[in-house]
Amino acid sequence: MTQAEIKALFTQMTLAEKIGQLTQLPGHFYSNDGEITGPIAELGISEEIVHQCGSTLGISGAAEVMRVQKEYLAKSRLKIPLLFMADVVHGYRTIFPIPLAMGASWNLELAQESARVAAAEADVAGVHVTFAPMVDLVRDPRWGRVMESTGEDSYLNEMFAQAMVRGFQGEHLESGRVAACVKHFAAYGAAEAGRDYNTVDMSRLMLRNQYLPAYKAAIDAGVKLIMTSFNTVEGVPATVNRWLLRDLLRKEWHFEGTVISDYTSLAEVVNHGLASDLKDVAELGLNAGLDIEMSSPSYVKYLAQLVDAGKVRLADIDEAVMRVLTLKNELGLFENPYRGANVELESKLHFSAEHQAVALAQAEESLVLLKNESNILPLSKEKKVILIGPKATARDHIGAWCWKGDKRETPTIEEALLPYFPNMKTVEATTMDEDIGIADAVAQAKDVDVIILAIGEKRSFSGEARSKADITLTDMQLRLITALKQLNKPMIALVMNGRPLDLHGVIEHVDALMVCWHAGTQAAKAIAKTLMGMSVPSGKLSMTFPHSVGQIPVYYNALNTGRPLKNFAPVVGYSEDYLSKYLDIPNAPRYPFGFGLSYTTFAYSDITLSKAAFSKGESITASLTVTNTGNFAGKEVVQLYIRDCVASVSRPVKELKGFQKIFLAVGESKELHFTINEEMLRYYHADESFSSDAGDFTLFIGTSSDDDARKIDFSLV
Ligand code: IFM
Repeated sequence: MTQAEIKALFTQMTLAEKIGQLTQLPGHFYSNDGEITGPIAELGISEEIVHQCGSTLGISGAAEVMRVQKEYLAKSRLKIPLLFMADVVHGYRTIFPIPLAMGASWNLELAQESARVAAAEADVAGVHVTFAPMVDLVRDPRWGRVMESTGEDSYLNEMFAQAMVRGFQGEHLESGRVAACVKHFAAYGAAEAGRDYNTVDMSRLMLRNQYLPAYKAAIDAGVKLIMTSFNTVEGVPATVNRWLLRDLLRKEWHFEGTVISDYTSLAEVVNHGLASDLKDVAELGLNAGLDIEMSSPSYVKYLAQLVDAGKVRLADIDEAVMRVLTLKNELGLFENPYRGANVELESKLHFSAEHQAVALAQAEESLVLLKNESNILPLSKEKKVILIGPKATARDHIGAWCWKGDKRETPTIEEALLPYFPNMKTVEATTMDEDIGIADAVAQAKDVDVIILAIGEKRSFSGEARSKADITLTDMQLRLITALKQLNKPMIALVMNGRPLDLHGVIEHVDALMVCWHAGTQAAKAIAKTLMGMSVPSGKLSMTFPHSVGQIPVYYNALNTGRPLKNFAPVVGYSEDYLSKYLDIPNAPRYPFGFGLSYTTFAYSDITLSKAAFSKGESITASLTVTNTGNFAGKEVVQLYIRDCVASVSRPVKELKGFQKIFLAVGESKELHFTINEEMLRYYHADESFSSDAGDFTLFIGTSSDDDARKIDFSLV
């Protein structure tokens, strides 16, 4: 439709029809198949209203979508198609590694490709909008939803946000693509104590410098929708936060797309204590700039009354409705309300060999090798091995938020390893929390060369409403490891997890440990290939693994203290007793952001800066040579960090500003170049201006965030 036609349609709409476009109902209002992803009470709305509501969530499948759309349109006076939205987070039928694992791949092309595949599968199943990417910055592994983020770093999250938006939406939402909805605006990842839905409270500086950039990056990449978060920001729930939704999003960032609430998050404003009933929340929501209310009925019940009472402006309703109609138009729904839905293509595309190949490549690059004593990995086929642990025969590698993923199609570690070790024995030994044969496992392991442990977290331990106070492995798994340790055999731990774990009781007892995450449909195959050296690990953590829960939050890009333990340069006399530290644990995490081993080794040499000083408008180049000095061809993630030494506010000890993931054959060298310009040195000041300060900076190029071996000073003049 042309813009003029949309306007003509709009002028025919009654107020009730307009308000309907601003309400999204859960799928079960239209279909028995509709997924419910949050609490839903009886909404108390009439059937007429149900057929005026403009969008729904959680229905998919070409045949069902077409049926629902047809029925809906038959009852719609103006024939405005229903919009189908869903959580296609890390794959639709072909499931990719959880986003936290994707972050660990540091591979933006693969992330974009996985989003393209997910979009292609969702599109033929009739989905128009995916509630992804989730770009919340995360620093607290107790929070179950860290699995859904690409990690703790704003720059890395920005890069992944843009790659995912490009993958989902393509250039212009062409066929095979879906509209993306970036979430959860804002700072949902900072819930106090890692408890889901909890209060968020932080300085404006922290919000602007670290938490907001990834949402902005998604907007710059053209994302069509943004979802508000459940939490408060500066005391006001994000869903009714005028500063966030009007001042920041619309005025400052010029976002023209649609703003949608989270599931019942508008109604929850009553519980936050800002409103006494649904009428109040409708007023707050619309006035704050919320376009669509998800799964609660305050708009459909009260907006018309609020217009009559002069508490809500019709012009604001009209603007919101125009945004929804524009989205429907951009998706081509007025020309074809059944856009994409295609039963024949579903069976061709879903879980196709081509899509599984992408899932395998991504799973391989997501694995992070944290320990490999005496190069015990990769394994030789000649070894006599035993596979032990509750994850040995598990099929839940698809992780949380994998709606249409079918774990029955996901091979187990045992199935993936048997072709290499046909005589391998498998003993589950424990469930997550029950001893079903630890003694038997020890007995059976007596005559093997190597013990492979398949341990970790159940898929249901992470995701929404899955916060945990204890992030060690279960007692039973720790007991299993202690018992096996008595055999003095080499042990390799494969840890399948949805969050960074406290690895106490594991890491000190094993010779090798690989973080395998919930790596999707092809997880087991990727793990087996990597164990055997047919794939070389190249993942690097995108979220710090703490020493223990007591350190949380612990992240690499923290502000310095006045009495830092590391690199303390006393300005006046000091006592070591009074530095910023714990009495009982180290300050350093167990494994830092950016860390991950390979089977091969890389040497960094000839690091130079083109100039030691530059001014605004200019740039300088950092160059180096990286050589594969080991015995395997492999990939390395070369990371560039910068520290702003003196600024108008305290700045992080270092910040990631660039990275390159490169492949090097054995003995091969590559020269790499990183451009540094003034824009990269900008930050938000106390008065919220965004600019750089002239002065001194230090650049670090290394293999991890704690790699300070190669640094060069430079200045901005
Ligand atoms: O998209 C999700 C959101 O991330 C959490 N609450 C439910 C929404 C819709 O399923």
